[in-house]
Amino acid sequence: MPSWVELERRCLDCRQCALADTRTNVVFGKGPKSARVMFIGEGPGENEDLQGEPFVGRGGQLLDEMLSLIGLSREKNFYITNIVKCRPPQNRDPLNTEQDACIGYLWEQMELLKPKIVVCLGRIAALRLIKPNYRITKEHGQWQEKDGVFYTAIYHPAFLLRDPTKKPDTFADLRAIRAKIRQVCPEVYD
Ligand code: URA
Repeated sequence: MPSWVELERRCLDCRQCALADTRTNVVFGKGPKSARVMFIGEGPGENEDLQGEPFVGRGGQLLDEMLSLIGLSREKNFYITNIVKCRPPQNRDPLNTEQDACIGYLWEQMELLKPKIVVCLGRIAALRLIKPNYRITKEHGQWQEKDGVFYTAIYHPAFLLRDPTKKPDTFADLRAIRAKIRQVCPEVYD
């Protein structure tokens, strides 16, 4: 198994798809390596590309605020990353070929972290990690267990900024995430 240091070095040097040509920074991930809870978005946007950290724009601020309401912070108890580690131009959805080129880094991050709970942020991550016909409007907040890991998805924070009427749904999903954490990995809240 690789170490975090070796994995991150490999990822930062990656040139396996064309996103390498237009990126400013590779956005590897952020959070304690002991976190039992993992949040996964689709790919870096402009601010993330410039700063090299996931979810640092307006959407990221909203996400951090919402997660703080259920006692979660990236400094303390969750790890956050994306399906693709380099910014797709104009923030378009990452292509399947780009996802395929990059997903191995996520599998290795998950192998090292061994999360108990994985929360997909938006449809793209849910399609990739939960099931290929995932319907976010219908299925957000539902749980699926695979190999002892509990997966769910919530609306992407950028979507909530565009349509704040969906926030109550997300608050309900977050309360369910807090309950699931208390059930399967209560040490997160120690
Ligand atoms: N959107 C994402 O999916 N990921 C980020 O890191 C930022 C915005």
